Amino acid sequence: MVSSSDLLRNIGYICSMNDGYTESLLSWYREHGRDLPWRATRDAYAIWLSEIILQQTRVQQGEAYWHRFMLRFPSVEALAAASEDEVLRLWQGLGYYSRARNLHAAARQIVAEGAFPQTLEGIRALKGVGDYTAAAVASFAFGVDAAAVDGNVYRVLARHFGIETPINSTEGKREFTALATALLPHGQAATFNQAMMDFGALQCTPHAPVCAACPVAETCAALRTGRVDTLPVKLLKTKVQERRLTYLYIRFNHETAIRKRPAGDIWQGLWEPVAVEGEQWLEELATRWAADGVVLVEKDVKHVLTHRILMADFYFMEVTEKPPLPEGYIWVKETDLDDYGKPRLIERLLAQLPYPQSL
Ligand code: ADE
Repeated sequence: MVSSSDLLRNIGYICSMNDGYTESLLSWYREHGRDLPWRATRDAYAIWLSEIILQQTRVQQGEAYWHRFMLRFPSVEALAAASEDEVLRLWQGLGYYSRARNLHAAARQIVAEGAFPQTLEGIRALKGVGDYTAAAVASFAFGVDAAAVDGNVYRVLARHFGIETPINSTEGKREFTALATALLPHGQAATFNQAMMDFGALQCTPHAPVCAACPVAETCAALRTGRVDTLPVKLLKTKVQERRLTYLYIRFNHETAIRKRPAGDIWQGLWEPVAVEGEQWLEELATRWAADGVVLVEKDVKHVLTHRILMADFYFMEVTEKPPLPEGYIWVKETDLDDYGKPRLIERLLAQLPYPQSL
């Protein structure tokens, strides 16, 4: 077993003892690697776009969105020229919308600078790009020798080398990056990074990895010591917060009231119906609404975001006089609702409205 503090000092030794490891992975990749559209191009924009989409999205769903974006915005200039609303609308359904806002802001940054950055540091300086994404884009688009260490890579390395340093600790990040960098064959970063990714996604999977047919099983520390199910180690995070939201969809003469969510909170820049938040208000308000003929459409709809759990109630009301709206809300035609980017939760709620929306 490799103790965490020894790892950095001994990387050279570890790599020399695992001479065939990288070659075995590359050979596995030649046979089993996935044929993905962003791998068939060296266009940095197309590659960057794929990496932003794939940050929190599975490949299958991400692929559909990548095609959609490439069709509508075939170049970074086209993306930069679009409005943020349009980008958010196209992103709708993918969740984690700060990715779309950062993507758009970074496109403008790139156009303003005149060209896509070609160095690791230049790419890392783009909005929404972290160490992993910078290394992925730099290696795939420009052949930079940088190891892209994502969740798959942490798992593959933790198991094979029997490393117990928590992967979500600062120390873990440093160690795993150093190890991946040492294993990376000079001049073949793109292939190596993709091989590691696919090996983690298809072979050395989080649950039920295919150890019986693994090309590096013989040298796998986790397999040898019965730790396949316990590696990698991850520190427990504090419990995610829960937030309660109550929505009221008001219908007046084929129009409804929505607002754009403000900065500094979830779903910045996306649109929603009249919203109320805060425990003590809700019961009183719901009782009053019920007396006013407000229909409860759905209750306790659970929606999981990256760092939060939302619980939402959704009410519907049709009125014959236009009521005054709280500040920030506007009236829009219901038939125009598709033109406003909305969080997926709101899409789900709107689909439950008592009448067909296509008025
Ligand atoms: N996940 C993140 N980046 C990826 C890529 N380039 N190919 C497949 N899965 C990925």
